[in-house]
Amino acid sequence: MNKQWWKETVVYQIYPRSFKDSNGDGLGDLRGIIGKLDYLNELGVEVIWLSPIYKSPNDDNGYDISDYRAIMDDFGTMENFDELLEEMHKRGLKLVMDLVVNHSSDEHKWFVESRKSKDNPYRDYYIWRKGNKSNPPNNWGSFFSGSAWQYDEATDEYFLHLFSKKQPDLNWENEKVRCEVYDTMKFWFQKGIDGFRMDVINLISKVQGLPDGEKGENDLYGNGFPLFANGPRVHEFLQEMNREVLSKYDIMTVGEAPGVDPDTAKFYVNEDRDELNMLFQFELMDIDSGNGKWDLRPWKLTTFKNIMVKWYEALKDKGWNSLFLNNHDQPRMVSRFGNDKEYRVESAKMLATLLHTWQGTPYIYQGEEIGMTNVQFDIAEYKDIEIINMFKEKTAQGMKKEELLESIYAKGRDNVRTPMQWDNSKNAGFTEGEPWLKVNPNYTDINVKQALEDKNSIFYYYQKLIRLRKENPIIVYGDIKLLYKDDENIFSYIRKFKDESLLVILNFFENEVEFRLPTDSKYREAELLIANYEVDTNIIDNILLKPYEARVYILH
Ligand code: NOJ
Repeated sequence: MNKQWWKETVVYQIYPRSFKDSNGDGLGDLRGIIGKLDYLNELGVEVIWLSPIYKSPNDDNGYDISDYRAIMDDFGTMENFDELLEEMHKRGLKLVMDLVVNHSSDEHKWFVESRKSKDNPYRDYYIWRKGNKSNPPNNWGSFFSGSAWQYDEATDEYFLHLFSKKQPDLNWENEKVRCEVYDTMKFWFQKGIDGFRMDVINLISKVQGLPDGEKGENDLYGNGFPLFANGPRVHEFLQEMNREVLSKYDIMTVGEAPGVDPDTAKFYVNEDRDELNMLFQFELMDIDSGNGKWDLRPWKLTTFKNIMVKWYEALKDKGWNSLFLNNHDQPRMVSRFGNDKEYRVESAKMLATLLHTWQGTPYIYQGEEIGMTNVQFDIAEYKDIEIINMFKEKTAQGMKKEELLESIYAKGRDNVRTPMQWDNSKNAGFTEGEPWLKVNPNYTDINVKQALEDKNSIFYYYQKLIRLRKENPIIVYGDIKLLYKDDENIFSYIRKFKDESLLVILNFFENEVEFRLPTDSKYREAELLIANYEVDTNIIDNILLKPYEARVYILH
């Protein structure tokens, strides 16, 4: 296996708008982040991924960029950015920026020009089509509800927007667009950043002719997904990007890729293909969805394990996996896969044990390290465009408010965007002003200050996991053998590297269950590395596991 620094590291994701406000305007900012770098150092992470900090009208909180080379006014200045990067590097922290180039903002100067006339030099930077009689050019729906096309009177044509209508899709078929993107990437690499997380990068190539998607009887829109995801030229574009830019720097890349399966993923991340280092794939994140994310379904541990193992096996020795259980788009992991009430601390630690002892690079989302939880707000208190549009569309279709709220409580993106809980003072110490999104009311109990004062906190457990990963190459590079794949309570596996073995035992639920070593196993002695309860024995062949108990042993 090829050793790489980005395999050995742990990434911490910051959602800057909600991390720390330094000037009292209620929005997080770069100086706020600078003030918390020592905290991140103490946690032990080595890479910080910043969600977008570029100039933006904030229709989608910065995922709609109006200038790729300027900093969002709310977040500060380019001088603040330079200082942030310098302060990070001083502390041995690397910086990964978000690259959002499937689309820009409609306020980007390219789009402002593009919409002016059909012969404008920027016209072809975006995807414009004539309507189909008085309908949009095709039947694709947008991820944020409604049609994926917006009519523009100035030229009597529609433009494509897979996300909001203020996020027009860039036309990657146009070589000039690709050059602009590569130049922008070089601009940031020359400043010294250490990598990119690439937003929906598998959507950049659309099927020629943009045909209609399949549409069920009860569907409002056709399913364009197979026609714009993993499209015909995506690998050609990524290889070009790699040749022109990525290969010239010692950096890391992770591509967000909704809807990839392990077979498709190989084309993006296998090391001999010179495309990307890792992907964010969402198979596990879809485990509790039926017909779309808002349609809630129960999930089973056997399915969960199956997905994890399938991805491990598919990329083993050839590519690399990223490991995450939440991010700025996904609900809090302890609320979703653990128990955010009685066993919040135990279950958060158990889930963290999985993430940090599986093969792949773990990603921690801000607040995860103190066990922050989902929220339940009134509908008027939500700020996320996805929630707001979905609620409007579905109530217009006659769905009940209560039912929609249940889905929002479970899956809404604002669950993870509430301000970071620093202490138990007003607004959780996030801002002296009025926070842009309500603080989770549980901040009085769940906050960084409390976590740092409690030696048994989730924070210190993460700190230890991160340290153990650094000290034990087996955790990074070891092979995985799953035990008891059909067990609906226990997730257990053995890692192997050179002549070492590591055993991980996780009780995924609150019932007490018995763990036995497989009868053919030769190990009888074990050295405990980490556990989320007190453990006073090194005997491992017959353990009664407590609710959400997690133990990791080196085996002899
Ligand atoms: C994926 C991002 O993670 C999400 O937050 C955003 O809304 C869409 N891409 C559009 O950029």
